Amino acid sequence: MEPSRREVRVSVPCAEQGRELLREPAPSPCAVVIFGATGDLGGRKLAPALYNLALDGALPGRMAILGLGSAPLSPAEFRARVRESLERFSRRLPIDEAVWSRFSGALDYLGGGFEDPATYAALKDRLASLERSMGTLGNHLFYLATPADLFPVIVRNLHAIGLLSRNGHGAEPWARVIVEKPFGRDLPSALALDRLLAKWLDERQTYRIDHYLGKETVQNILVFRFGNAIFEPLWNRRYVDHVEITAAEELGVEGRGRFYEQTGVVRDVVQNHLLQVLAMCAMEPPLTFGADDVRDAKLRLLRSLQPFDQAALRASVVHGQYRGYRGEPGVSPESRVPTFLAASLRIHNWRWQGVPFYLRAGKRLARRVTEVRVHFQPIPLSLFPQEQGALSPNVLILRIQPREGISLRFVAKVPGDHLSVGDVRMEMTYAGAFGGLLREAYERLLLDCLRGDATLFARRDWVEEAWRFVTPLLEDEASGSEPLPTYEPGSAGPAEADELPRRDGRGWTPLTAPAGE
Ligand code: BG6
Repeated sequence: MEPSRREVRVSVPCAEQGRELLREPAPSPCAVVIFGATGDLGGRKLAPALYNLALDGALPGRMAILGLGSAPLSPAEFRARVRESLERFSRRLPIDEAVWSRFSGALDYLGGGFEDPATYAALKDRLASLERSMGTLGNHLFYLATPADLFPVIVRNLHAIGLLSRNGHGAEPWARVIVEKPFGRDLPSALALDRLLAKWLDERQTYRIDHYLGKETVQNILVFRFGNAIFEPLWNRRYVDHVEITAAEELGVEGRGRFYEQTGVVRDVVQNHLLQVLAMCAMEPPLTFGADDVRDAKLRLLRSLQPFDQAALRASVVHGQYRGYRGEPGVSPESRVPTFLAASLRIHNWRWQGVPFYLRAGKRLARRVTEVRVHFQPIPLSLFPQEQGALSPNVLILRIQPREGISLRFVAKVPGDHLSVGDVRMEMTYAGAFGGLLREAYERLLLDCLRGDATLFARRDWVEEAWRFVTPLLEDEASGSEPLPTYEPGSAGPAEADELPRRDGRGWTPLTAPAGE
């Protein structure tokens, strides 16, 4: 009997409408103030997110969007810029002229330096006049799409003119502040930033954004785990052999060389996005799906991670830098900033004792894929003595992007007169099951903040704990004591990374395989 390694796709169409378990309240009228509105994030993500929410009729009827920036633009010039951004980055095109006409009517702009008190006096006047003309009821969402070193000065000034002395949660008028990542650049700076912000801002008003939490596929990890009875009993060291979490990008630093030189892969995606995904996959069931219960459970998981042993770091971590990175604009020709990281982690609790979690993330890799692979244990005994190699163990793949979906690999008999087995895959894609385009992460997060729901935002204790956990990686990076492996653009990363799972008798899923394989 020749084992067949053909992949047979079993697709599961399921166009069933979801059952609504929770109806979220409609957001109340408000003014959204975007600091740094003319920057990359404002144009690429925030303007398209707000416009797409407008397309869905999800924004409050009475609303103003006030861009703030150092560029001296008129409101009409700002509207023209927003229109250009939408033409380039909106997930739904062409622009719907009727919606644009209403949306652009809500756009306004104020120029000024973020360190200049006069800017805040003008802001206060403008918000008061918008309250009268647009009926925003004095509710304010301040979005800090600026470098982190400006957060304290902005928040201090907002506080000084009395714009923060309101509720974060229920009662109106409210004031909420969204801060972009990176939140600090290491543990001491994050602690200092938190202490400063806490002087003027209540934790319930503070929304630390990690856009991965706004992705449908990331949110679905919890629904998948805790909404189905059949997986949770297997979700532990007795049945799981190891877990792979990959966040691979094809693109390089794309003109963000200067930013990336200050950041590197650990600060950019590991300390935040990857640890969040890991926590969702490995955490214990939360008491409820409420914001604090979910965040408590994730935090406990983070605290259960075995700290990196500085002395034995080489055995569990590999950094890398793609060839050509040093020639990118804004990058030092001697740069030692890593654009790739692979790590082998252990979780110290009853559920996961002894199960390796392999993480890898990097830029300029073979293909763009973010996914979690849960590799189950092999069968204890093969009943097919003729089987040449081992039957492939089951693998559950949670594909975060692209081709968002879930698939389960298992072994089946290939039809025919002889006994032959093959790997098949049961496959669910969001597009097939639910149709349509998935809502962008920033849309969901902006909407949640407008509604006062902080479940999908990172809490202060999480951010600090995540910095604590990655500190040995940052120290190792900064020490420059070891040569930094390089890798070819379009490859699977430095060859040294293969050693991590190999030491445990395991291997990475090849990155060169077509998406989803
Ligand atoms: C951002 C990082 O937070 O996440 C980028 O700053 C990275 O460097 C991006 O490319 C990845 O996000 P996504 O949604 O494309 O996986």
